[in-house]
Amino acid sequence: MTRKAFVTGITGQDGSYLAEILLSKGYEVHGLIRRASTFNTCRIDHLYEDPHDPDRRLFLYHGDLTDSLQLTNLLYDVAPDEVYHLGAQSHVKVSFEMPEYTGNVTGLGATRLLEAVKRSGIKASFYQASSSEMFGSSPPPQDEDTPLRPRSPYAAAKVYAFWMAVNYREAYGLPVSNGILFNHESPRRGETFVTRKITRAIAHIVAGKQKYLYLGNLDAKRDWGYAPEYVEAMWLMLQQAQPDDYVIGTGEAHSVREFVDEAFSYVGLDAREHVKTDSRYFRPTEVQVLIANTKKARQRLGWEPKVTFGQLVRIMVDADMESQGLKPIGEGRATLSRLGLNHADRALVNPTGGVER
Ligand SMILES: NC(=O)c1ccc[n+]([C@@H]2O[C@H](COP(=O)([O-])OP(=O)(O)OC[C@H]3O[C@@H](n4cnc5c(N)ncnc54)[C@H](OP(=O)(O)O)[C@@H]3O)[C@@H](O)[C@H]2O)c1
Repeated sequence: MTRKAFVTGITGQDGSYLAEILLSKGYEVHGLIRRASTFNTCRIDHLYEDPHDPDRRLFLYHGDLTDSLQLTNLLYDVAPDEVYHLGAQSHVKVSFEMPEYTGNVTGLGATRLLEAVKRSGIKASFYQASSSEMFGSSPPPQDEDTPLRPRSPYAAAKVYAFWMAVNYREAYGLPVSNGILFNHESPRRGETFVTRKITRAIAHIVAGKQKYLYLGNLDAKRDWGYAPEYVEAMWLMLQQAQPDDYVIGTGEAHSVREFVDEAFSYVGLDAREHVKTDSRYFRPTEVQVLIANTKKARQRLGWEPKVTFGQLVRIMVDADMESQGLKPIGEGRATLSRLGLNHADRALVNPTGGVER
């Protein structure tokens, strides 16, 4: 029997990689997409299958995490074996501007989906996309037992969703697991997230389209990994006999400043000539340091990241150079081939650039 997965947030960074690996493992993949007046499927267009193809395994449905009825109907009709809940308003800075909406989508969205699983009577394993941002001001390294001290509306919404997931597991016996993932990046990262903002700006500077890059807090330290490896961890969690919660990260932290220096020096540019700070990009409350302790994931899931910080930077810069029609330096691409990770990884390109963050 073909296994069926239902994925919210399939048009996002992680959803697109997850859809790829699930299809490669033989799954039927059913994804929720938002209706928009423009196309929002550019990250999964390479996976598109003609609806008339009788053998197709990718199915997309319009829906929204604020629409319980549609979520319940879809889960009842699709009856998936596994549900991956990745959909969210996922931008920390935006969450300070839209706290209510973030709570509604990122927090209550999880409750709506959990309730839809319960109401539709399906027996699906459930993955909740929890975040290291939930640890907030708790000192590093952070593991599954570290107190949650959120420092943004996004993190507070994720804490609520995390505990709802635990409650549905304990109250109703649903096989729900939380993946507490530390930052993970890729050429498909949204252009307003800091890593992608840096690598995209570098390609623009090399192409002569931009001179300066404006950033916020350069001292914040994050544990940055490569997104395709992290979606493999999501899948592994749902293959365990018992549902549980796992921290996923590299165990190494680097500052935004280190990311900047590494990326600029890779293309032979001096960051000091191009990077300026702008107070508008600082958050009202900052999370200073996040570092994962992944002992549990290593022992129980056998999960271990391979891509290092330097390699991640090079993969992202190479992809952004290519997206600008420039010759990549090549070390990033070489890393992917060496590690057998040579999937169709192209930088997400939004020509209008969106609203700056
Ligand atoms: N990337 C990380 O470092 C990281 C770390 C820890 C946890 N997480 C969490 O992991 C999940 C995946 O992250 P990501 O980086 O892939 O995020 P992302 O690129 O921002 O993708 C978010 C997805 O959620 C969808 N979405 C947003 N609002 C929605 C709504 N109201 N109804 C239905 N769908 C909605 C988006 O649809 P559109 O394409 O239409 O916008 C998109 O598909 C998120 O929950 C995020 O908070 C991410």
